Amino acid sequence: MARRSRVPVNDDRALVIRDLHVAPAADPTHEILDGIDLTIRQGEVHAVMGPNGSGKTTLAYALLGHPAYKVTHGQIFWKGRDITKLSPDKRARLGLFLAFQYPTSIPGLSVASFLRTALNARKRPLDISGDGHDPSDMTRGGISMGAFRKLLTETFEQLAIDAAFATRYVNEGFSGGEKKRLEMLQMAILEPELAILDETDSGLDIDALRVVAEGINRMLNPHLGVLLITHYQRILDYITPHQVHVLGRGRIIKSGGPELARELEKSGYGPILAAAGLEADARDEAEAHEAATTAGAA
Ligand SMILES: Nc1ncnc2c1ncn2[C@@H]1O[C@H](COP(=O)(O)OP(=O)(O)OP(=O)(O)O)[C@@H](O)[C@H]1O
Ligand SMILES: [Mg+2]
Repeated sequence: MARRSRVPVNDDRALVIRDLHVAPAADPTHEILDGIDLTIRQGEVHAVMGPNGSGKTTLAYALLGHPAYKVTHGQIFWKGRDITKLSPDKRARLGLFLAFQYPTSIPGLSVASFLRTALNARKRPLDISGDGHDPSDMTRGGISMGAFRKLLTETFEQLAIDAAFATRYVNEGFSGGEKKRLEMLQMAILEPELAILDETDSGLDIDALRVVAEGINRMLNPHLGVLLITHYQRILDYITPHQVHVLGRGRIIKSGGPELARELEKSGYGPILAAAGLEADARDEAEAHEAATTAGAA
């Protein structure tokens, strides 16, 4: 039975996901998400955890309208508007943002040009057609070079990123941690109202994790809702979630407060999966063991 959210779909400050079923576009009969109900209000942080392959990234992609995924049933509402069929660029212009688990490189495009183009595209109102607004032209709605440079310099400093990155090609030759920081840089520049962070903490060293977590904390505001996908309790020591949800085989099998993440760190997914009638596979057990060992060592 799908758990029904009580929040009305026309809540003008919330992302409301209703009984969402999602399958790969190439294989629409094979559903990965099997009825997700979730509401994230602006100003709230929701952590989503769950074993490998449980559907976390699929949820992130479906929310942003990735063409490789098809919503086979259910709906997504953002600020009272049904966005289930909206294109990814329109969702981004409505304030949705996704920090990728595996960011791709774009050889030939500098970080600075990429960010400026993205910012101008983001600012372009949804209802304005070709005439009038030109995001590349500051006299017709775009950001001026001076203002952009100032914004970029400030944001680089906040996230402790070397200014030399501005002229490098997007993610080309970046280390894992540098890629994750660039995702945070994009978020800081684009100022989303609903940010989905897919394992932004994975692959960061301890100092980088603190810088990134503090950066996210600074970005938190009453207009920003966050869906934070993570495998580790550690980032939640910095960013306190309003709620923690556990995904298992494409469903939310348990929701709770921050203590749920601590419980998972101790006991792994086994007990929660078992209680939901799902069996933990060997990989879950190994992960639980690793998590418990890490927690014990910390
Ligand atoms: N485009 C696709 N075509 C076929 N199967 C897919 C596709 N995308 C995802 N899947 C499958 O759906 C399941 C969920 O994948 P997903 O990437 O959402 O998991 P995840 O929870 O993010 O895992 P991880 O913790 O490893 O990042 C996996 O079994 C995956 O192989
Ligand atoms: Mg994933």
